[in-house]
Amino acid sequence: MLNFLKQLPRQNEFIVEGHLTALDGIGTTVENLKEAIDGETYEYKEMYPPMLAQAEADNHKAKRMFKYAVEAEDVHAQLYKLALAAAEQGKDLDVTDFYLCPVCGHIEFGKPEENCPICGTLAAKYVKLS
Ligand SMILES: [Fe+2]
Repeated sequence: MLNFLKQLPRQNEFIVEGHLTALDGIGTTVENLKEAIDGETYEYKEMYPPMLAQAEADNHKAKRMFKYAVEAEDVHAQLYKLALAAAEQGKDLDVTDFYLCPVCGHIEFGKPEENCPICGTLAAKYVKLS
């Protein structure tokens, strides 16, 4: 069952890609990065903050993950901005190794040397993205 549940995000990637293709939603790399920045920015500025506020008001355990989401989506937007700057110059990012915090979703360019700045997870626990 756990393996099945772990595969669900991958399944959703195919569904999203199918919808985007059907809607002509896949553009150039620069266009896609701008869309990604807008999406991440919306998430950390507008979507997650009210959820966090409600969870805090209710003292619900979800407040922890909403707090992580607000911070991680901000980082994602900043990383997309770096990628956009490179793409606008016809380049790719210099860094090719990316590491994901398995607790909060924080992403590091290059192997992390310090614990997660958002949730404190040990640097050794980061997962290399392929
Ligand atoms: Fe983290």
